[in-house]
Amino acid sequence: MALVSGPGRAGGTSSDQELHILKHVTYIKNLDTRKEELEYWLTEHLRLNGVYWGLTALHLLGHPDALPREETIDFVLSCQKENGGFGAAPGHDAHMLYTVSAVQILVTIDAVDELEKRGRGGKQRVGSFIASMQNNEDGSFMGDQWGETDTRFLYGALNALSLLGLLDMVDLPKAVSYVQSCENFDGAYGVTPGAESHSGQVFTCVGALAIAGRLDLVNRDRLGAWLSERQIDKGGFNGRPEKLPDACYAWWVGSSLAMIDRLHWIDGKKLASFVLQCQDPEAGGFADRPGNMVDVYHTHFGIAGLSLLGVEGLQEVDPIYCMPKAVIARCFAR
Ligand code: FPP
Ligand code: ZN
Repeated sequence: MALVSGPGRAGGTSSDQELHILKHVTYIKNLDTRKEELEYWLTEHLRLNGVYWGLTALHLLGHPDALPREETIDFVLSCQKENGGFGAAPGHDAHMLYTVSAVQILVTIDAVDELEKRGRGGKQRVGSFIASMQNNEDGSFMGDQWGETDTRFLYGALNALSLLGLLDMVDLPKAVSYVQSCENFDGAYGVTPGAESHSGQVFTCVGALAIAGRLDLVNRDRLGAWLSERQIDKGGFNGRPEKLPDACYAWWVGSSLAMIDRLHWIDGKKLASFVLQCQDPEAGGFADRPGNMVDVYHTHFGIAGLSLLGVEGLQEVDPIYCMPKAVIARCFAR
């Protein structure tokens, strides 16, 4: 199973303001059949992420059963390692980012129980891997045994553990303090303390605080102002000052604004218009910018961004988890 690659090119016509739902469904479903393409093999290191992106996009597009459930479960479990974590593909080392994708996929298709049923040590074993990645001194998280820390890994840990009902396996107050130490004078956040503010890291830090129930620590107006400045002439968002707009930042910036109740501070119509111009109206899929090659990463985050904006025809997305709201509601109703 592979959901990374795709040959199409975004349309880029300002008149193309329709969401081509069925084209995107076909594009995502066919990603798995392109094994003869070099790009399929070059993106093996992203495979489990790719399944999460494709599956979630299909749910948001209203086609939740478009991927075969059993095959999806088999593929996810084939990526699990002895230590309980998951690699990008069978034979790859365990890493936080793929472990989070594995948990998100299993939760989305309501298959977490399979970890127990198929003799994988249940969710506790996955939780143990994630918890072992926390640094006791400062509360930060590593991605793997090699030790690099990044707020993406901290967010991922809290995302997956909370979905599994295992947040108590880590030191939450220490993780929260670490996130606070990544806040900059502009109200935004960087990848580590003192690092430049970046909207992707803002999503991870605000998302982590939301999961920890500590959004009270965010300077909402200052951060909201910095995030609003990410909207540039064409209506799209950039990730940092002086950068080009990119469809995926409709998600990273938009979800951050939504979490702090400031999504109405930007021009949603202009943003949706920019993202829709990033579609390939014939072959389906979204690119980072109008006229560029489409890929499943920008397809997923473009669609998730449009869902945040309430675009017709899409299921609602949860801004904290980047998963369908209905899935999150079912998961926490247990
Ligand atoms: C920018 O990506 C985005 C980030 C740095 C945040 C990524 C967050 C995660 C991987 C955590 C898991 C996320 C979810 C939704 C479950 P980039 O490096 O491509 O930015 P660039 O295009 O500006 O280089
Ligand atoms: Zn992008």
